[in-house]
This record gives sequence, structure tokens and C-alpha cells, in this order.
Amino acid sequence: MVLGAGGTTLDDWHGHYAQRTSGLSASEVRALFAVASRPEVVSLAGGMPAVSALPLDSITETMNKVMREQGAAALQYGSGQGLPMLREQILEVCALEGIEASANNIVITTGSQQALDLITKLFIDDGDVVFAESPSYLGALGIFRSYQADVRHVETDESGMIPEALEEAIAVARADGKPMKFLYLIPNFQNPSGVTLSAERRPRLIEIAKRHKILIIEDNPYGLLWFDTPSPAAMRSIDEDGIVYLGSFSKMFAPGFRVGWALAPHAIREKLVLAAESAILCPSALTQMVISDYLATSDWQAQIDVFRGLYRDRRDAMLSALDEFLPGYHRTEPNGGFYVWLTLPEYLDSKAMLPRAVTELVAYTPGTAFYTNGMGRSHIRLAFCYPTPEAIHEGVRRLSEVIRQESELIETFHPKIPDITQLSHVVSPPPDLA
Ligand SMILES: Cc1ncc(COP(=O)(O)O)c(C=O)c1O
Repeated sequence: MVLGAGGTTLDDWHGHYAQRTSGLSASEVRALFAVASRPEVVSLAGGMPAVSALPLDSITETMNKVMREQGAAALQYGSGQGLPMLREQILEVCALEGIEASANNIVITTGSQQALDLITKLFIDDGDVVFAESPSYLGALGIFRSYQADVRHVETDESGMIPEALEEAIAVARADGKPMKFLYLIPNFQNPSGVTLSAERRPRLIEIAKRHKILIIEDNPYGLLWFDTPSPAAMRSIDEDGIVYLGSFSKMFAPGFRVGWALAPHAIREKLVLAAESAILCPSALTQMVISDYLATSDWQAQIDVFRGLYRDRRDAMLSALDEFLPGYHRTEPNGGFYVWLTLPEYLDSKAMLPRAVTELVAYTPGTAFYTNGMGRSHIRLAFCYPTPEAIHEGVRRLSEVIRQESELIETFHPKIPDITQLSHVVSPPPDLA
């Protein structure tokens, strides 16, 4: 008899899992990626970079060259902190956002997602407080949950997190007797809102965090992908002791290499390396070498310009399609990155509406994915990075049709709800992005 071959769907290990796994749940995006991969669906869901705009032939040549010239080292284990040469090159990338640092304080990770995991593992005990924007990146929220953090969303508007709201949230957490560990921020072209934290608020948030001895995690994968005006200098350029800065090659180059980095104050850096070594021994030497060669031999800043132009066109296509098909609906106006945050009438539930959207061959990410507290029901994140401008136009048209159908259905049961054609004047910004 083969043990475990019974084919039962019951989980035999139920009751054995570590308590912290109670926070693990399939991300709302995972299911969407499966749906969105069907060619007939216009996916405004996943934040997939437009990698087809990369010079694939020359990247292939770089990979061949790395194997030809340094094959043995590329296939070997390497430093837990990451390739010294690449850490030096990362300083040049950081300098574009005003950061001066030492390569010694950089730890290369398997995407910035792993850096987020490691830093959370280092600092968060069950019930510790993490302050995050409202809404915030679902991948970070998943990590915080898996370490049983108590995530508190702080009110955010079109200029990013509101300093006074952070002060209030800190006072509440203090009154609750909770240890406060992180202030997690995505200052540029935030995921999911597309909003940028204003230059004026950056030092204020730093001052508040310092005063309360809360570590800032500055997660900045999109900073170089600005459209109209460069993003303000990184928070890490203002303060180096109280900030762990996370960068990534995923959006400025390609996510498939899975290379990101953490720039940390010296003491934290040492612990990060230990945690990284215990998790994965070392990041992939092969992909680090390919990126290092790409940075050394190609005009990578010109490639970033190509991405900027492409994403700017798609942002414009998204905003003009929203103007055409959903006039008057509140939406953010990102100056970079991948996302627009759309507010629906309050009576619509974006998660409940998703199956109808998929039937109409359009996908998006429901707002609830970006909160740990059930908020976001009447919001959706629209990603404009991947589909062509024509597909974005069609996708938003389909979305408006879904909203019309859903509203009509609700109207049938709740006739007090206003006529969809009148909605342009009644949809107001959400309280958290007013
Ligand atoms: C805000 C933010 N942080 C981190 C990540 C993870 O990126 P990486 O591919 O570097 O792991 C993403 C990916 O979408 C993101 O949007």
C-alpha cells in the first residue's frame, strides 16, 4: 500500500501547522493571474512589466557571454551578501534618487520581496504593530500577516500618508500597549494607488518615526519609472540610520532574474546577511552576473527611458478611457509606475463583481486585496503596465459595461440606488484617498 495515495481532499495535517500559518491565504492576485492568462481576457489585474520592450537578443548575448567567460563562477555558490561588483553598481542606481551609500551596506536578495520577508522575520514578533499606507501593497501585507504582525492602515491622500494621521495611529497603538516596529511606505507611484508621497511630507514622516523609534521600510521599486516630473529624492537620502531602503531590478529591468536589494543601516545589514544565508545560502550568482554585465555594457538608463515612454502612453490611454467610459468616477492620476486606483459607487462590491467581469473578458484586482481590515470593497486597482493602449481602451469599455450591468441588477432589488447615468456626479473620492 502506498501511504498518502488515498486521494482524499481533506488535509491530514490540519492541526499540525504552525500557528503563524493561519495568516497565509491564497492571494487574490494568484487566481487572477490564471484567469488573466487567457488571451481573450484584457487583464488590468497583475502588475507585470512589459518585458517585450527589452532588447531580448542582446540580453541573450549577455547571458551567453557570462556563461562563456565566467561559467564556473556563475554556476557556483557565492557570497550571502551578494556579488561585490553588483553591489557597487547598485550604488549608481541609488544615486539617481539622491542616495549616497556604501556597497558594504547593501544586501542582494531574491527580488525585493525576499528583502521584505527577511526584514520582517528579523523584527516582527506576534502582535507587533506595522503601520502601512491605506491601501498598501498586497505582497507586503501577506508577509506581515504571515509573521502575525498587527497591521494598522494609516490615512493616505493624493500626497501620500498623512503625517497627522500617523501621529494619531501611533497614539492609539501606544494606548493599546503594542510594540511598534515598522512604518512601511512605498513613496513613489504607490502600489496600488499610484500616489506619490510629497517631498514636503517625507522629512515629517521621518521625524515622527525617529521620535517614536519606529524603523521605516522604504520600498521603492518604481521610483525611476516617472512620467512627467522626476520623483522626489528618496527618503533614504534624508536619513540613513532609521531607514531600510528596498530596491529592485524587477521593474527597471526584468522580474525574471529575481534580483533586488536592501540598503540597511550597518547593524541591521549584518543581521540581514545572517537571515539571508539561513534562508537561501546565497542569491543566484548567474542572474547577478547577467545583471552586472547588463549594467556595465549596455545603456540601461536609455532602456529605462524606453519603459517610461511606454508606460506613460499606457497611463494616458487608461486615463482617457476612464474619462470616456466612466466619467466622473474618482481615480488617481499617477505620475509614474503601473497603477490607477478607481473608486466605484459605494453600493458596488468589487470582489463580488469580479466573476461578472471575467465573463465580460476583463480582469482587475479588487480593492480589498490591499487592506488587512476588510476595507476597499468599492475600489479597484487597474494596472496599465502590460496591455497595449488599444487593449486598455477595450478593457475599460468592458469594465464600464460590467459596472452598468451590476448597478442595474442592484437597482432592481434596491430601487433607491441612483440611475447609473447620473453617477458621474455622485461618486466622490474615498475617505482614505480624498
Ligand atoms: C511595492 C512593491 N514591493 C515589492 C515588490 C516585489 O518586487 P520584486 O520583484 O523585486 O520581488 C513589488 C512587486 O510588484 C511591489 O509592487
